[in-house]
Amino acid sequence: MQSKSESGLHVAIIMDGNGRWATRRGLPRVAGHRAGVAAVRRIVEHAPELSVFVLTLHAFSSDNWARPAQEVQSIFWIIRAFLRLECDRLRQQGVHLEVIGRRDRIPAPLLREIERTESATANGHGLKLRIAIDYSSRTAIADAAVAATNDPNLNRPLTSEHMRTILAHALKSNCGDVDLLIRTGGEQRLSDFLLWESAYAELAFTDRMWPDFAESDLASALSDFNHRERRFGGIPAASVQPISILSRRTR
Ligand code: IPE
Ligand code: IPE
Ligand code: MG
Repeated sequence: MQSKSESGLHVAIIMDGNGRWATRRGLPRVAGHRAGVAAVRRIVEHAPELSVFVLTLHAFSSDNWARPAQEVQSIFWIIRAFLRLECDRLRQQGVHLEVIGRRDRIPAPLLREIERTESATANGHGLKLRIAIDYSSRTAIADAAVAATNDPNLNRPLTSEHMRTILAHALKSNCGDVDLLIRTGGEQRLSDFLLWESAYAELAFTDRMWPDFAESDLASALSDFNHRERRFGGIPAASVQPISILSRRTR
Protein backbone atom coordinates (compact mmCIF):
# COMPACT_ATOMS: atom_id res chain seq x y z
CA MET A 1 0.00 0.00 0.00
CA GLN A 2 1.42 3.39 -0.95
CA SER A 3 1.60 6.43 1.34
CA LYS A 4 -1.22 8.86 1.95
CA SER A 5 0.72 11.41 -0.09
CA GLU A 6 -0.47 11.72 -3.67
CA SER A 7 2.93 12.74 -4.95
CA GLY A 8 5.19 10.03 -3.59
CA LEU A 9 6.85 8.52 -0.58
CA HIS A 10 8.91 9.91 2.25
CA VAL A 11 11.89 7.61 2.68
CA ALA A 12 14.41 8.15 5.46
CA ILE A 13 17.78 6.41 5.61
CA ILE A 14 20.19 5.94 8.51
CA MET A 15 23.38 5.68 6.45
CA ASP A 16 25.33 3.41 8.79
CA GLY A 17 28.36 1.18 8.32
CA ASN A 18 30.94 3.48 6.74
CA GLY A 19 33.55 2.79 9.40
CA ARG A 20 33.19 -1.00 9.27
CA TRP A 21 33.19 -0.95 5.47
CA ALA A 22 36.61 0.75 5.58
CA THR A 23 38.05 -1.27 8.48
CA ARG A 24 37.22 -4.55 6.71
CA ARG A 25 39.29 -3.35 3.78
CA GLY A 26 42.23 -2.33 5.98
CA LEU A 27 41.47 1.33 5.33
CA PRO A 28 41.06 4.23 7.76
CA ARG A 29 37.45 4.93 8.78
CA VAL A 30 37.47 8.17 6.85
CA ALA A 31 37.79 6.16 3.62
CA GLY A 32 34.37 4.69 4.43
CA HIS A 33 32.86 8.15 4.87
CA ARG A 34 34.35 9.17 1.52
CA ALA A 35 32.99 6.05 -0.18
CA GLY A 36 29.60 6.80 1.35
CA VAL A 37 29.32 9.94 -0.77
CA ALA A 38 29.08 7.90 -3.98
CA ALA A 39 26.16 5.99 -2.45
CA VAL A 40 24.43 9.28 -1.61
CA ARG A 41 24.86 10.42 -5.22
CA ARG A 42 23.42 7.12 -6.54
CA ILE A 43 20.41 7.15 -4.26
CA VAL A 44 19.58 10.82 -4.83
CA GLU A 45 19.73 10.29 -8.58
CA HIS A 46 17.47 7.22 -8.61
CA ALA A 47 15.05 8.05 -5.79
CA PRO A 48 12.57 10.07 -7.92
CA GLU A 49 12.09 7.29 -10.48
CA LEU A 50 11.22 4.99 -7.56
CA SER A 51 8.39 7.33 -6.46
CA VAL A 52 10.38 8.84 -3.61
CA PHE A 53 9.26 12.41 -3.15
CA VAL A 54 11.07 13.23 0.09
CA LEU A 55 14.40 11.65 1.06
CA THR A 56 15.80 12.31 4.54
CA LEU A 57 19.38 11.11 5.00
CA HIS A 58 21.08 10.86 8.37
CA ALA A 59 24.65 12.10 7.93
CA PHE A 60 25.82 13.15 11.42
CA SER A 61 24.02 12.75 14.73
CA SER A 62 24.43 15.03 17.73
CA ASP A 63 25.85 12.01 19.53
CA ASN A 64 28.52 11.64 16.84
CA TRP A 65 30.37 14.55 18.49
CA ALA A 66 31.62 11.85 20.86
CA ARG A 67 33.92 10.57 18.10
CA PRO A 68 37.59 11.59 17.79
CA ALA A 69 37.86 15.22 16.65
CA GLN A 70 39.78 14.20 13.55
CA GLU A 71 36.97 11.92 12.36
CA VAL A 72 34.37 14.62 13.04
CA GLN A 73 36.40 17.18 11.10
CA SER A 74 36.80 14.77 8.20
CA ILE A 75 33.07 14.10 8.07
CA PHE A 76 32.33 17.83 7.96
CA TRP A 77 34.97 18.32 5.29
CA ILE A 78 33.45 15.52 3.18
CA ILE A 79 29.92 16.93 3.51
CA ARG A 80 31.19 20.38 2.54
CA ALA A 81 32.99 19.01 -0.52
CA PHE A 82 29.86 17.07 -1.50
CA LEU A 83 27.70 20.19 -1.37
CA ARG A 84 30.25 22.27 -3.28
CA LEU A 85 30.74 19.68 -6.02
CA GLU A 86 27.12 18.57 -6.32
CA CYS A 87 25.29 21.88 -6.07
CA ASP A 88 24.93 22.40 -9.83
CA ARG A 89 23.94 18.81 -10.48
CA LEU A 90 21.36 18.92 -7.68
CA ARG A 91 19.89 22.08 -9.22
CA GLN A 92 19.76 20.49 -12.67
CA GLN A 93 17.97 17.47 -11.19
CA GLY A 94 15.37 19.78 -9.62
CA VAL A 95 16.41 18.74 -6.13
CA HIS A 96 15.41 21.02 -3.26
CA LEU A 97 17.95 20.58 -0.48
CA GLU A 98 17.32 21.33 3.17
CA VAL A 99 19.58 20.58 6.12
CA ILE A 100 17.91 19.66 9.41
CA GLY A 101 19.51 19.69 12.85
CA ARG A 102 21.33 22.22 15.01
CA ARG A 103 23.26 24.91 13.19
CA ASP A 104 25.00 26.66 16.06
CA ARG A 105 27.85 24.11 16.35
CA ILE A 106 28.51 23.55 12.64
CA PRO A 107 31.87 24.99 11.53
CA ALA A 108 31.46 28.27 9.62
CA PRO A 109 32.81 27.05 6.22
CA LEU A 110 30.35 24.12 6.19
CA LEU A 111 27.50 26.33 7.34
CA ARG A 112 28.21 28.76 4.48
CA GLU A 113 28.16 25.90 1.98
CA ILE A 114 24.89 24.60 3.43
CA GLU A 115 23.24 28.01 3.16
CA ARG A 116 24.59 28.52 -0.36
CA THR A 117 23.27 25.13 -1.55
CA GLU A 118 19.92 25.61 0.16
CA SER A 119 19.37 28.92 -1.54
CA ALA A 120 20.69 27.69 -4.92
CA THR A 121 18.22 24.78 -4.88
CA ALA A 122 15.30 26.58 -3.22
CA ASN A 123 13.20 26.56 -6.40
CA GLY A 124 13.67 22.84 -7.09
CA HIS A 125 10.34 21.12 -7.66
CA GLY A 126 11.69 17.58 -7.85
CA LEU A 127 13.05 15.53 -4.98
CA LYS A 128 13.02 17.17 -1.55
CA LEU A 129 16.37 16.11 -0.09
CA ARG A 130 16.81 16.61 3.63
CA ILE A 131 20.22 15.94 5.17
CA ALA A 132 20.41 15.59 8.93
CA ILE A 133 23.56 17.13 10.39
CA ASP A 134 24.15 17.57 14.14
CA TYR A 135 20.69 16.09 14.43
CA SER A 136 18.93 14.66 17.48
CA SER A 137 15.23 13.90 17.26
CA ARG A 138 14.76 14.38 20.99
CA THR A 139 16.37 17.82 20.77
CA ALA A 140 14.23 18.73 17.76
CA ILE A 141 11.06 17.75 19.66
CA ALA A 142 12.18 19.57 22.84
CA ASP A 143 13.13 22.70 20.85
CA ALA A 144 9.77 22.76 19.09
CA ALA A 145 7.96 22.36 22.42
CA VAL A 146 9.97 25.17 24.03
CA ALA A 147 9.30 27.47 21.04
CA ALA A 148 5.58 26.74 21.32
CA THR A 149 5.55 27.35 25.06
CA ASN A 150 7.36 30.67 24.67
CA ASP A 151 5.13 31.93 21.84
CA PRO A 152 3.11 34.79 23.38
CA ASN A 153 0.54 34.63 20.56
CA LEU A 154 -0.71 31.19 21.49
CA ASN A 155 -3.88 30.71 23.51
CA ARG A 156 -3.29 29.58 27.09
CA PRO A 157 -3.43 27.02 28.51
CA LEU A 158 -1.93 24.91 25.71
CA THR A 159 -3.82 21.65 25.38
CA SER A 160 -2.15 18.38 24.55
CA GLU A 161 -4.09 18.25 21.28
CA HIS A 162 -2.92 21.75 20.37
CA MET A 163 0.69 20.87 21.24
CA ARG A 164 0.46 17.78 19.03
CA THR A 165 -0.62 19.91 16.08
CA ILE A 166 2.14 22.45 16.71
CA LEU A 167 4.84 19.79 17.02
CA ALA A 168 3.64 17.90 13.95
CA HIS A 169 3.78 21.11 11.94
CA ALA A 170 7.17 22.20 13.32
CA LEU A 171 8.90 18.84 12.92
CA LYS A 172 7.62 17.67 9.58
CA SER A 173 7.94 21.02 7.80
CA ASN A 174 5.41 19.93 5.15
CA CYS A 175 7.27 16.72 4.36
CA GLY A 176 4.72 14.41 5.91
CA ASP A 177 5.42 11.42 8.09
CA VAL A 178 8.12 8.95 7.13
CA ASP A 179 6.66 6.09 5.06
CA LEU A 180 9.73 3.86 4.99
CA LEU A 181 12.77 4.06 7.26
CA ILE A 182 15.83 2.13 6.09
CA ARG A 183 18.93 1.50 8.20
CA THR A 184 22.03 0.06 6.60
CA GLY A 185 24.95 -1.49 8.47
CA GLY A 186 23.11 -4.28 10.29
CA GLU A 187 22.09 -2.49 13.50
CA GLN A 188 18.41 -2.51 14.31
CA ARG A 189 17.82 0.71 16.21
CA LEU A 190 16.72 4.28 15.53
CA SER A 191 19.62 6.10 17.23
CA ASP A 192 17.48 9.20 17.95
CA PHE A 193 16.44 9.72 14.31
CA LEU A 194 12.99 11.09 13.31
CA LEU A 195 11.21 9.61 16.34
CA TRP A 196 8.05 11.69 15.97
CA GLU A 197 7.88 11.52 12.18
CA SER A 198 8.34 7.73 12.12
CA ALA A 199 5.39 6.87 14.38
CA TYR A 200 3.90 4.67 11.64
CA ALA A 201 6.93 4.23 9.39
CA GLU A 202 7.62 0.81 7.99
CA LEU A 203 11.11 -0.27 9.07
CA ALA A 204 13.71 -1.98 6.90
CA PHE A 205 17.07 -3.10 8.24
CA THR A 206 19.78 -4.35 5.94
CA ASP A 207 23.23 -5.77 6.59
CA ARG A 208 24.54 -3.90 3.55
CA MET A 209 27.12 -1.28 4.62
CA TRP A 210 26.18 2.19 3.41
CA PRO A 211 29.02 2.58 0.83
CA ASP A 212 27.74 -0.62 -0.86
CA PHE A 213 24.09 0.46 -0.89
CA ALA A 214 22.93 0.53 -4.51
CA GLU A 215 19.80 1.73 -6.30
CA SER A 216 18.76 -1.94 -6.55
CA ASP A 217 18.78 -2.11 -2.72
CA LEU A 218 16.49 0.89 -2.56
CA ALA A 219 14.25 -0.61 -5.23
CA SER A 220 14.02 -3.89 -3.35
CA ALA A 221 13.25 -2.14 -0.02
CA LEU A 222 10.47 -0.22 -1.79
CA SER A 223 9.13 -3.33 -3.44
CA ASP A 224 8.95 -5.01 -0.02
CA PHE A 225 7.30 -1.86 1.38
CA ASN A 226 4.65 -2.00 -1.34
CA HIS A 227 3.63 -5.46 -0.16
CA ARG A 228 3.14 -4.43 3.44
CA GLU A 229 -0.25 -3.57 4.79
CA ARG A 230 -0.27 -0.31 6.72
CA ARG A 231 -3.18 -0.23 9.11
CA PHE A 232 -2.54 2.90 11.20
CA GLY A 233 -4.38 1.31 14.12
CA GLY A 234 -7.31 0.14 12.05
CA ILE A 235 -8.06 -3.32 10.75
CA PRO A 236 -7.61 -4.73 7.24
CA ALA A 237 -10.35 -3.57 4.89
CA ALA A 238 -11.19 -7.23 4.15
CA SER A 239 -11.92 -7.83 7.85
CA VAL A 240 -14.56 -5.12 8.17
CA GLN A 241 -17.82 -6.99 8.69
CA PRO A 242 -21.16 -5.73 7.45
CA ILE A 243 -23.27 -4.17 10.21
CA SER A 244 -25.97 -6.82 9.78
CA ILE A 245 -23.52 -9.60 10.79
CA LEU A 246 -22.26 -7.61 13.77
CA SER A 247 -25.71 -6.91 15.12
CA ARG A 248 -26.76 -10.58 14.68
CA ARG A 249 -23.73 -11.76 16.69
CA THR A 250 -24.21 -9.32 19.55
CA ARG A 251 -27.90 -10.07 19.91
C1 IPE B 1 27.76 6.13 9.64
O1 IPE B 1 28.78 5.21 9.62
C2 IPE B 1 28.25 7.54 9.43
C3 IPE B 1 28.22 8.37 10.64
C4 IPE B 1 27.71 8.01 11.77
C5 IPE B 1 28.79 9.69 10.53
P1 IPE B 1 29.62 4.87 10.92
O2 IPE B 1 30.80 5.79 10.96
O3 IPE B 1 28.78 4.88 12.14
O4 IPE B 1 30.09 3.42 10.56
P2 IPE B 1 30.19 2.20 11.57
O5 IPE B 1 28.84 1.99 12.18
O6 IPE B 1 31.22 2.56 12.60
O7 IPE B 1 30.61 1.07 10.71
C1 IPE C 1 23.63 6.74 13.43
O1 IPE C 1 24.74 5.91 13.35
C2 IPE C 1 23.95 8.10 12.89
C3 IPE C 1 24.26 8.17 11.46
C4 IPE C 1 24.24 7.18 10.62
C5 IPE C 1 24.60 9.47 10.97
P1 IPE C 1 25.67 5.64 14.62
O2 IPE C 1 26.73 4.72 14.17
O3 IPE C 1 26.12 6.94 15.20
O4 IPE C 1 24.67 4.97 15.64
P2 IPE C 1 24.96 4.00 16.87
O5 IPE C 1 25.98 4.68 17.74
O6 IPE C 1 25.46 2.72 16.30
O7 IPE C 1 23.62 3.84 17.52
MG1 MG D 1 27.66 3.43 13.02
